[in-house]
Amino acid sequence: MAFHSKYVCQQCGYESTGWLGRCPNCGEWNTLVETVVSIGKKKETKGGNRTAAVSKPIKLSEIKSASIRRVSTKISELDRVLGGGLVPGQAVLIAGEPGIGKSTLLTQLAAQLSIQSSVLYVCGEESANQVKVRADRLGLKGVNIDLLEETDVDNVISQLDDSTVSAIIVDSIQTMTTGDLSGMAGSVGQVRECANRLLHIAKAKNVPLFLVGHVTKEGTVAGPAVLAHIVDTVLWFEGDKTLTTRILRAVKNRFGPTDEVGVFEMVDRGLQPVEDIEKAFIEKNQKSVSGSIVTSVMQGTRPILMEIQALVVPTKLAIPRRVAQGIDSRRLELLLAVLTRRSGIPLYDSDVFVNVAGGFKITEPATDLAICLAIASAYYDKPIPGSTIAVGEVGLLGEIREVVAEEKRMREASRLGFKSPISSKDYKYINQAIKHLFR
Ligand code: TYD
Ligand code: MG
Repeated sequence: MAFHSKYVCQQCGYESTGWLGRCPNCGEWNTLVETVVSIGKKKETKGGNRTAAVSKPIKLSEIKSASIRRVSTKISELDRVLGGGLVPGQAVLIAGEPGIGKSTLLTQLAAQLSIQSSVLYVCGEESANQVKVRADRLGLKGVNIDLLEETDVDNVISQLDDSTVSAIIVDSIQTMTTGDLSGMAGSVGQVRECANRLLHIAKAKNVPLFLVGHVTKEGTVAGPAVLAHIVDTVLWFEGDKTLTTRILRAVKNRFGPTDEVGVFEMVDRGLQPVEDIEKAFIEKNQKSVSGSIVTSVMQGTRPILMEIQALVVPTKLAIPRRVAQGIDSRRLELLLAVLTRRSGIPLYDSDVFVNVAGGFKITEPATDLAICLAIASAYYDKPIPGSTIAVGEVGLLGEIREVVAEEKRMREASRLGFKSPISSKDYKYINQAIKHLFR
């Protein structure tokens, strides 16, 4: 079948033969995306002559339940994020900033999966020699990995046609192109079409497919999230690149939960799963310093201890600075307003900095209390005892609320040596807690 391409507006469906900055039909900017059209394919019309088999509805009650057969990746934290292992034919997108460790993780994974039959590793970004250097660094010897230096997706597919592989790894999808489209590598049209073709062959062969996706400065996978819709699983690799801790998070998973995280440590021989994740994010052997407190964050089924740090300094600016790292800056503004109004801490003439140690991003309101106490501790310059753990949501009235799984968090924290809990059970309002602890 012959192919040609045209530009289709993602907003209104207008078709154009060339790229235009603005859609002539709906007037939207940059919505025209190059799309492959096959010539000679008959378009089916309603009631027309149908040659293909027509699907019939199946009774849900008549379908036998089948348990999903999963293949372990032998990397414990990756298995956890995937929901217990890989499903045959599963398409996984691993997205993250450059240098975070995507290629490292996939090289380690390739080595594990190559035990059964060879793994095809398409290196569109690096040369085979560079991958070899990495494999040596990781101490991989005698592994059955086929490296393919290729950026043409159709050549990759023809390589796969008559070979048996246990997995396909493409590093990265943004380097792949097809000759059927004229767009540049990394354009929305190319990324979508190449991913579709790779997915098709992976499903036909019933082997897992891993695509590496780069993240743009704005934090989205290049090709406006088109990939997220196509694949079964989207994993985000994140962390502070200046530190060694890396977090792998499932943001979409057709075959498992989406709230689990896997934690790794980047050492000189690759990524090592972190076993005692509960304490991975708190500073070891730290002296009591004002502005620091430990809280507990639920990640999937696991409570993880996190350290919240705050700094309060007199400002010289008309509008004081509020800098939040790892927490939502609007949440910080709100909590500062509550502290000023309900606890009488005059923060309007101070710069406030709040940071979650270890580069973790927290979205739970259960850490409100800890954030407030860290700020108060920094303001009064009085340290909070090291064995304290604070968990609670803070409302606009200054009330402390109970949070989900509070019992579980406190039990786990107590097991790890945090014996002095602070929660809604101890104080009803934030000003009571602050009065008792600092004044
Ligand atoms: P890489 O996997 O190339 O990142 P990505 O594919 O996401 O761009 O890894 C990049 C960093 O990891 C690089 O700065 C070096 C470091 N690294 C280690 O610290 N230890 C190792 O064993 C390896 C292979 C890499
Ligand atoms: Mg890479």
